[in-house]
Formats: sequence, C-alpha cells, structure tokens
Amino acid sequence: MIVDIIAGTRPNFVKIASLINAKRKYRANFQIRLIHTGQHYDNKLSDVFFKELGIPLPDINLNVGSSSQASQVGQIMIKYEEVVLKNPPNLCVVVGDVNSTMAFAITAKKMNIPVVHIEAGIRSNDLSMPEEINRIVTDSISDYFFTTTKFANENLSNLGVNENKIFFVGNTMIDTLYNNLNNFKKPSFYDDYDLNNNFLVLTMHRPANVDSIVDFEKRIKEITSSAKHLKILFPVHPRTKKSLESIVDLPENLLCVEPLPYLEFNYLVKNSLGVITDSGGITEEATVFGVPCITMRDNTERPETVEYGTNILVGSTPTNLSKYIDKMIAKNWKKAKIPEKWDGKTGKRIIKTLDRILKN
Ligand code: UD1
Repeated sequence: MIVDIIAGTRPNFVKIASLINAKRKYRANFQIRLIHTGQHYDNKLSDVFFKELGIPLPDINLNVGSSSQASQVGQIMIKYEEVVLKNPPNLCVVVGDVNSTMAFAITAKKMNIPVVHIEAGIRSNDLSMPEEINRIVTDSISDYFFTTTKFANENLSNLGVNENKIFFVGNTMIDTLYNNLNNFKKPSFYDDYDLNNNFLVLTMHRPANVDSIVDFEKRIKEITSSAKHLKILFPVHPRTKKSLESIVDLPENLLCVEPLPYLEFNYLVKNSLGVITDSGGITEEATVFGVPCITMRDNTERPETVEYGTNILVGSTPTNLSKYIDKMIAKNWKKAKIPEKWDGKTGKRIIKTLDRILKN
C-alpha cells in the first residue's frame, strides 16, 4: 500500500516531520511516498528543514518553484497527475493550507484517490487570503478529516461532514516542537547582538501585510517605535525582502536576518519577551512555550491560540500596538493553557488511523 504525503512549503515540512517520525516508530501496513512540490526551493526555506528535522530526501520532487497563484497550482496539478498515472497511491495525504495542499487534493480526487486532509476544518472566514480558499476547496473534496481542535470539528460538522470521517488527533506542528525541545540552537548572532533574553521576535510575510511598500513601511515604523529601544529580531521571508529593500532608513532597533533554520528560530522565540507576527503556526508554538504573542491580522483560523493561548489579535492596521508591546516588555500577559491533544502524540494517532482506514 502506498500513501502519498505531500509537502511544498516551510510550515508543511514541520508538520510532515511528525508523521515521518511516527511512521518510523509504529508498525503500519503502508509505505510513505514523500512528494515535494518545490513550492519552496531555497535552502533556507526547504533543505535545512529536511536536514534538521530528520526528514528523508523526497521520493519525488516536482520542482515547480515560484509563479503566480494559478500558474503554481496548475503546474503542481499537471506534474502530480503524471506521477499518479504511472503509479497510483492508495491514499493522498495533504497537510495545512498552502497552494501545494489544494493542488494535490484536487488532482488526487479527480483520479479517484481518497484524500486525507491534516489540519482540516480551520477557517478564518477571510476569502482575501489565498490560504482560506485553499482550506475551503481542500475540505470540500477530502474523504477524511484530521483536526487540531474542537473548533475545527464544529466547523466541519456545521458543513455537514459525516462525524465518522472526522478524527480529532491534535497538532503535528506541536509534536515536532516537543521532539526538538532539547535540540534548539543558539543562533551565532545571539551574543554579538547582545540579545540576552531581552528582545522581541518579528515575522511578517502575508501578502496583505508586505506587498504594499507604503503600508509595510508604516507598519515597520509603528512596531519599532512602539518597542522604543528594545531590539527586534526580524528573520526576513523572501517575499518580505523585496519590500524591505525599498525602505531607505531602517530603524536601528530592527535587526534583520535571513530566514532562520527551525532549531534557531524556536530558540529565539522561546527566549524572547514576545513575538509579533502574521503567521498562524507561530501563534501555536508561542502558546505552547507560554510566550506572549501579538498577531497583526483582523482574524485567525486558530481561535484556540486566543481563547486558551498567549495570542492577542490586534488587527491588520494596529492602533493599539504600543499598549500591547508595553505589556509584553513588562511581562504582564495572560497565562496560556495548552489546547487538548497538543501532547506530542498526534503523529502516532494519525499513523494508526491511516492504517485502519487502509484496512477497511
Ligand atoms: C507560502 C504559503 C503561506 C505560508 C508560507 C510560509 C501559499 C498561498 N502561501 O507563502 O501560506 O505561510 O508559504 O513561508 O501557498 N520565494 C523564494 N524562495 C523560495 C520560495 C519562494 O525566494 O524558496 C519567493 C518567491 O519570489 C515568491 C515569494 O517568495 O514570489 C512567495 O513564495 P510563495 O510560495 O508564492 O508563497 P509564500 O509567500 O512563501
């Protein structure tokens, strides 16, 4: 039996690492065929994640690279169709909500391969985000739904998904975090920059936050001035780099670095006073670390990070940032509770369930 596992971008690699790891530990009557779409291809966004997280080299790399939304999705579909025609799998497992996720789900389903969606059912209800479209399309054609929270189960039930097809398994990203807690690495610049547990981490890469240079510059100035003289460590995503290069005088407390490997990035988050972000996965990791987190978005598909976790939504045009940054610096923040089943055993639950699905 062959189970295709698909990964295309940085957050996908963190999620599939949990599955690969669990498959090594627990007996299952299937083989994984690992397929990299090539959506992320830079060493810093891809190869280093495979090495650090012990993911084997992909069995197949489609090498699609970057292009427009439609062109990227189209190329992935054409290339995966060729793979399936030659050697069809018994199941196609997709994770998360990126273009690679949706493209594989559509291709597999049209070729009568059952689709398993890991991280199914989450919704921001914001159709201006490409990820929300990817989530809706993927869930609308998936056969089995593996969820991270009860909120996702509720969303799926409200959509009429049969309860027998929904498996509340927990969070693969948090498995990977627990598996690597003892391996986090202090980045080489940590001492040179004199960070000493007294800094903030910033990440920003959503098209809505970075593609307009004028708004992006305003946002950067707002964040750095709110932080006063506190250093802000900013690993810059390639998409963001293009806008950052147009800002003439970058504030002195903004320390821009290249995208960081997983083990170094999480060392920073764990040792910071707080994180300011527009990512989704980072809000989950910050919740587990108990590190304060500010999300610069109007909505989140991960309400559990706000309801139970350390995350606060301040909106995409934040006017109250300095109030929250002050609270971060003063260590005056709500205490987090870790959501149910974010316990490091999600990969095991998924592998056992996939085995059962294939037997029936
Ligand atoms: C993608 C996902 C997003 C996820 C993010 C994590 C979609 C719609 N978006 O966004 O959900 O949070 O990955 O990083 O799937 N580029 C490089 N090197 C690479 C890859 C990309 O330089 O290895 C550059 C390209 O110039 C490209 C830009 O980054 O134009 C954006 O890449 P793309 O894959 O389109 O989306 P991301 O913004 O990375």
